[in-house]
Amino acid sequence: MKTMMMLAALLAGTAAQAETVVITAARMLDVASGRMIEKPIIVAEDGRITKVGRQGELLATDGRRIDLGNLTILPGLIDMHVHLSSDPTLSGMQALRYPNSFWTVLGVAMAKRTIEAGFTTVRNVGSADYADLGLKLAIERGAIPGPRIVPATYAIGATGGHCDSNELPANYVFDRPGIADGPDGVRQKVRELHRRGAEVIKYCATGGVFSIGTSVGAQQYTQAEMNALVEEAHMLGLKVAAHAHGTNGIKAAIRAGVDTVEHVSFADAEAFELAKKTGTWFSMDIYNDDYILAEGAKNGVPESSLAKEREVGLKQRQTFQAAWKAGVKMVFGSDAGVYPHGDNARQFAKMVEWGMAPIDAIRAATVMAAEALGRDDVGQIVPGRFADMIAVAGDPTANVATLRDVKIVIKDGAVVKDAR
Ligand code: ARG
Repeated sequence: MKTMMMLAALLAGTAAQAETVVITAARMLDVASGRMIEKPIIVAEDGRITKVGRQGELLATDGRRIDLGNLTILPGLIDMHVHLSSDPTLSGMQALRYPNSFWTVLGVAMAKRTIEAGFTTVRNVGSADYADLGLKLAIERGAIPGPRIVPATYAIGATGGHCDSNELPANYVFDRPGIADGPDGVRQKVRELHRRGAEVIKYCATGGVFSIGTSVGAQQYTQAEMNALVEEAHMLGLKVAAHAHGTNGIKAAIRAGVDTVEHVSFADAEAFELAKKTGTWFSMDIYNDDYILAEGAKNGVPESSLAKEREVGLKQRQTFQAAWKAGVKMVFGSDAGVYPHGDNARQFAKMVEWGMAPIDAIRAATVMAAEALGRDDVGQIVPGRFADMIAVAGDPTANVATLRDVKIVIKDGAVVKDAR
């Protein structure tokens, strides 16, 4: 067994680490129950958590000790909506000057920033040239630091829609690998991306802020197209994330059976009821507006997009508040890439400002996100899961802003960052 594991590790390119690590600290937040556990002890073997208990109660285990002193431990955070190979300071037409390879290389630096901010798992919902796949494989191999990545590869979109590239002159002919139309077309596209390594399907159900020539509220696939896309993805065992700002597009996506709706700006009471009935999660990037309106013009965001942002920003926050109050399930999705990578945790305070208790905002980025991903190997500090955790000073359930200053990041039982 051991030999087989070592062989598997060698093949995976990482040294076999049959290591036992014993982690202790003053406190640990149990995100499932919301309770603070005093003097916890966590044992991890070969990157997985094997035991969790209270110091003194749990029998001493041999192993490398990591004492985090007076810090508070919580699970590694999960961001359900990032674009690691995007840079908000290179927006609009100036981005066209850079080739695909540039964005992939940039992603290496952004993956490092992301994990150092405490996000040990991310869902990358759209990147060109399979950049997220390359990043994922390099991170898994131990070649570069970064979070676990659930890659969508290309976001799927209708011709001329939000996920198309409409900024180039009409006569330009170029590759648009994410574009598909018609029920059969989107079905084929899902199969193609799955074949190439997508682990989640992202598609654009409505217009958006950053695209040229799209009305942010307009639906962009028919119900029949969305139904076919979601059915095909689910048949392949893939979850589906739908970008949707507009009311009709949001409802069509929920009716089609998507797993998460992204942005969700103009959802109404009927959309909340539909989502509750189907168990659809909302993933709302409600920090973004501040950054886009403050920095967008300087970053090259065209005025047409800034105008759309002014239409969406406040409304989206009000929708977030109403949806949460209505009982819609929420996950944490920041759309980092539209704002700086590494600042993901700034969104926690916004979620609290707009009606969530701090513990619920933390749950959205841990236990709830893991559930929405359909994964039982991340999101909680319990035996069987990856030993991914962070530590902060103070009590994040009293002040979520502590999550902006992560002192310790541990992934696979190994310390990735120690900023004590
Ligand atoms: N990617 C999204 C879009 O272009 C970003 C929306 C950002 N604005 C916001 N208020 N969340 O539509």
